[in-house]
Amino acid sequence: MEDLLDRELKQKVDSRRFKEKDKEILETVEEVLDHFTMEILYDLIRELRIKKILGAISSGKEARVFPALSASGEYYALKIYLTFTREFKKSVWKYILGDPRFEGEKVTSTKSLIYLWCKKEYKNLVKMSEAGVSVPKPTAHKGNVLVMSFVGENGFPAPLLKDYYEELEDPEGFYMDVVNNMRLITCKAKLVHGDLSEYNIMVWRNRPVIIDVSQAVHVSHPNALIFLLSDVRNINRFFKEEVGIDVISSEELVGELKQCMGT
Ligand SMILES: Nc1ncnc2c1ncn2[C@@H]1O[C@H](COP(=O)(O)OP(=O)(O)OP(=O)(O)O)[C@@H](O)[C@H]1O
Ligand SMILES: [Mg+2]
Repeated sequence: MEDLLDRELKQKVDSRRFKEKDKEILETVEEVLDHFTMEILYDLIRELRIKKILGAISSGKEARVFPALSASGEYYALKIYLTFTREFKKSVWKYILGDPRFEGEKVTSTKSLIYLWCKKEYKNLVKMSEAGVSVPKPTAHKGNVLVMSFVGENGFPAPLLKDYYEELEDPEGFYMDVVNNMRLITCKAKLVHGDLSEYNIMVWRNRPVIIDVSQAVHVSHPNALIFLLSDVRNINRFFKEEVGIDVISSEELVGELKQCMGT
């Protein structure tokens, strides 16, 4: 009974707070999102003057990315974390524990873990962007929603490297561009991406844009070197075997990047 009253009261408040116009904006996302996420989106719509949210670009298990058009005609990408599967929940700890930036954070539920993960991605984007890494520009984060600049045009996302490598005008130059971004990530932002591959690099105007940085860890993290080795191996394997170009040897590249990991 109390629940029902609560719900009725809430609905009344909601209907007053959320104007019809805002509801239309959220039509495309309503089906997949829970009430908490909708509330967060209503706030962001107002703060960022979003006037339209388009259909999802990706339908990953944990997160979904939506293009959003603002009143000034600029597109944002909204990355919304939906849920964490059990396996994912287990695996995220290895990226959080041991990171001095997240010491003292209280995680009492799956929801607070998701919020922390989203904040982590935002902070990693800020650090990388300040270091000059080619990443989407971080705009805001709230709860499980991350807002960043949109990579692409008119709401159409740029292709991922895995789907576009045959079209590259200068594959060797593109590879060196990726390597230089790895240098900036480790030597200037003092981070290791941890999931770098052709799946997390977009190609925009013939240049790489690195995405999906939630799992990136500080260089002092106990697993940082393991993640660095895997990033270098993934990138080198892809450019050598799929793209078919000469690459810097993994030993040499790891050696160079390792030097930056000391403080
Ligand atoms: N800033 C952006 N601008 C445009 N498109 C983006 C942006 N960020 C991500 N995307 C698109 O959304 C997809 C998913 O983003 P991301 O890799 O960050 O999430 P994910 O958790 O790995 O999701 P998935 O499991 O679907 O790959 C990307 O492959 C890319 O196509
Ligand atoms: Mg991804």
